Formats: sequence, C-alpha cells, structure tokens
Amino acid sequence: VAAKKRPSVIWLHFQECTGCTESMLRAEHPTLEKLILDVISLDYHETLFAAAGHQIEAAREAAMKANAGKYVLVIEGAIPTKDGGIYCKIGGKTAIELTKECAKDAAAVIAIGSCASWGGMPSTDPNPTGAVGANKIITDKPVVTIPGCPPNPYNFLSTVVHFLTFGTLPEIDALGRPKFAYSRLIHENCERRAHFDAGRFAMEFGDDGHRKGYCLYKLGCKGPETYANCPTVLFGDAGGGTWPVGCGHPCIGCTEQGVGFQKPIHLPA
Ligand code: SF4
Ligand code: SF4
Ligand code: F3S
Repeated sequence: VAAKKRPSVIWLHFQECTGCTESMLRAEHPTLEKLILDVISLDYHETLFAAAGHQIEAAREAAMKANAGKYVLVIEGAIPTKDGGIYCKIGGKTAIELTKECAKDAAAVIAIGSCASWGGMPSTDPNPTGAVGANKIITDKPVVTIPGCPPNPYNFLSTVVHFLTFGTLPEIDALGRPKFAYSRLIHENCERRAHFDAGRFAMEFGDDGHRKGYCLYKLGCKGPETYANCPTVLFGDAGGGTWPVGCGHPCIGCTEQGVGFQKPIHLPA
C-alpha cells in the first residue's frame, strides 16, 4: 500500500536571524523532526537542508512544479523593498521576486515571526532597507501572520495542523493573526496580575519586589498592550516551559507592531 503523500512545504528565509526556526527546533509536541519526517514534506529550507546553491534552488523549483496549487509557503524574515529590493537576494533573485514566484501557486501562505509579519527588527526606524512584511508583497491571497520574536512554535504548529486537518486556515483577525492565539492581552492571563491589581511592583531588577515575583509594569512591561498567548501556552516543553515574564523579564511587546522594539522603551515614573 503506497504511503499517503505528505504535503509539501516551501520555507523561505529573508531578512532575519533564524530565531523563528530556532524556536521551532525547540518544540516538543510534535518535535520538528516528527513534523518534517512524518507529517509534512519540507522541500526547501536553507537552514535545515544539507543541499545548497543550485541544488537547493532546483529542489524548490521541482517541488513547486510537482505540487502546484497544493503546497504551503512559509516566509521567515522581512522583505526589503528599497532600491528595487537589492538588499536581500538568493540565487540571484530578490526577496520580492522569490516571494511573488513562490506565492503564485501556494495553497496557503504563513508568515512566521514579527519580521515576516510586519517587518519586525529589520524595519526598526529608520528602516534603511524599506523592510516590510510578506502581506505587503502578497496581496491577492490571505497571509496568516504568526508574530513574535521569536514566535511561539505552538502557534505555528497549530496553524499548520489546522490546515492539514481541515484544508482551511484558522480564523484570523484584521492583522492576519490566528484568533486562537492572539485575541487576549498578555496582561489578562499574567501570573503577576494580582500584584498589579494590588499595586505591588518591582522597581528595579533584583530588588525585593522583583525577587518576590511582583508586577513588572514599572520595569517597562508591555503586557497591558500586547496581544498573545505567551502566559498560557509557554515556550518549550509545556510541562516545564516558561515565558519572558515568568523568567522575571518584562514583556517587550515583541508580537505587536509599534509597541515593542520599534520604538524606545520609556519606563513609567
Ligand atoms: Fe529573528 Fe525575531 Fe525575525 Fe524571528 S521575528 S527571524 S526571531 S528577528
Ligand atoms: Fe501585566 Fe506585565 Fe504586570 Fe504581568 S508583569 S501583570 S503583564 S504589567
Ligand atoms: Fe514577546 Fe511579550 Fe510574549 S516579549 S514572547 S509577547 S511575553
């Protein structure tokens, strides 16, 4: 009996640090090995492929041709648009050209991480390369965005598994984010919320309040204006995983355009 063909996934890297892939490598259920060996057929990924150069580009083109209209396109990294897009080229093609070429016959497009979702770190003011998210280049089909720097791997995996199971993408909000993951404020589910409500704050790192697990708002926490499920889903192994505020660091709003690292953090008085 022939084994069921695994769905093809083409994963592009543009202006990025590969932290999104690193985050995926630390997922535990399923692990990335399980995903790419048993669930999907990862047919192009610059970091995980042994092949390089002409060989890997040929693999991408062959996979796109064989799976036209059926493959999933994942984009990691921002896309530079200034000066004709010359600031990111792979195999002689600009990121803009590759995005358009690969999106044309894709059944679904997922932008993983804040870079691919809205420009992220590379688009930080003054944004010298004109970095934008994938949905500024792909305008004829929906782009699901999984922002975060890095994003939570389970939000990405859940989106992929939803598509593979139902043949449709999960419900998204106006910014393309799956509602199951980005519809609640961090502040609503934070384990330090009782301290916020009672007015108990850490005033500096390592002080008594910080050691006691008090609220990090006065250290610049962006949880009250950041939508994400970090406190409930956690990073890494859900049995022993944690998240930024759980480790004693304020949320920097890494999932939200204009909240976090795109503008200076001014500590409240
Ligand atoms: Fe790296 Fe963050 Fe961009 Fe992902 S979103 S590639 S972790 S800078
Ligand atoms: Fe809200 Fe941040 Fe305080 Fe948590 S640590 S209660 S998210 S302000
Ligand atoms: Fe990012 Fe804040 Fe979650 S910094 S990882 S959105 S807690």
